[in-house]
Amino acid sequence: MEAFDYRDGELCAEDVPVRELAETYGTPLYVYSRGHILSQFHALKNVMAEVDPLICYAVKSNTNAAVISALAGEGAGADVVSGGELLRARRAGVPADRIVFAGVGKTEAEIEYALKEGILYFTVESEPELERISEVAQQTGTTGRIAIRVNPDVDPKTHKYTSTGKKENKFGVDLERAMAAYERAAELPGIEITSLHMHLGSPIMTSDPYAEALEKVAPLCRDLKTRFSTFRHIDIGGGLGIPYREEDTAFDLDAFAYAVIPPLKALGLTVSMEPGRYLTGNGGILVTRVEYVKDNPFKKFIVIDAAMNDLIRPALYEAYHAIRPVRDTRETVFGDLVGPICESGDFFAANRDLPAVGPGELLAVMSAGSYGFVMAGTYNSRPLAAEVMVSGNQHRLVRKRQDMEDIFRDEVIPDWN
Ligand code: LLP
Repeated sequence: MEAFDYRDGELCAEDVPVRELAETYGTPLYVYSRGHILSQFHALKNVMAEVDPLICYAVKSNTNAAVISALAGEGAGADVVSGGELLRARRAGVPADRIVFAGVGKTEAEIEYALKEGILYFTVESEPELERISEVAQQTGTTGRIAIRVNPDVDPKTHKYTSTGKKENKFGVDLERAMAAYERAAELPGIEITSLHMHLGSPIMTSDPYAEALEKVAPLCRDLKTRFSTFRHIDIGGGLGIPYREEDTAFDLDAFAYAVIPPLKALGLTVSMEPGRYLTGNGGILVTRVEYVKDNPFKKFIVIDAAMNDLIRPALYEAYHAIRPVRDTRETVFGDLVGPICESGDFFAANRDLPAVGPGELLAVMSAGSYGFVMAGTYNSRPLAAEVMVSGNQHRLVRKRQDMEDIFRDEVIPDWN
């Protein structure tokens, strides 16, 4: 489903003109398409039907309660990486037994909370974490189900900051040491070995890294099945890519299914996946208004009211986001699209053909549904943007814009005397 497209020269979010949303809610504004997010979920679910995976939505990609709850309503579970995300997932209606908990630094308090909730399993990232889960489980009279996150040392061919399955990354346990970690887990009270987990990085544009990783972990899975009667499940992670550039082709779901279903079926394990970006990435845009168009002798700058504090991906990863005019125009100007923050890294597009728009006109930064608002901050004392969800011809505010008081509320000027 193409969620954001032109009708009569106007960019629409499903059936709602984006201009109307900007007028109603102000800018900068995140706009999400419920229809797109759900149709991505169902496309993945359908193509993988033969192994009937539990799709644990990686809530880190977009933690808005309306997004999580829309997916939970269709049967999605959640992949969380903190106590805060676990609470969010629970509040948005995800049953605890569909929640998996990853992350290299789980605190005792987080582990205790997850044990009490009765989550599906912990994705364990190290041997010391196993010991800690065992201790907390004994103290609380619970049992922690676990998957060891195995690092298959496969190159996902993505940005160095978002590649996680290579041996030099901080995540997981090397394939060579994985069996020893499982053996240690088997000795520990309060631990039940149920699963194996892998996640290679993000975004991944082809199925090859998944197929390669499965081939590498399959012998270990077979060993685990014979050694531990409770071992029954594999989680193949997330990372499925999306098109960011107009000319990019979509991730080939059929090829993915063709590559991973036969080895998964051969293993005879139940399956889960943890997609984030695939579900939400192209289900969101950041709508912004042009403040100034500035010419210097070398370049043209379009200065907008959104900034790197709203969407940090270009500054952090030099990530590419397509820029579309809200009122369709074929005319372009060459230059940079920049925000008002006092850093040269505050840009959305550099040295590109941009829509020829003037002050007051609206632009949409595309593919902003994942790792957009969730990575926002208030640098330069800029309040967090509002978030809106569209479904057909309806729209709802799903997070109100911060005001200045929200920014200052928790600060204290000490009275030293
Ligand atoms: N599972 C685990 C264990 C992960 O670490 C991640 C993402 C996912 C699943 C979901 O990956 P996805 O399906 O969304 O690609 N901020 C970066 C991406 C960081 C990804 C972190 N881990 C970006 O803006 O591209």
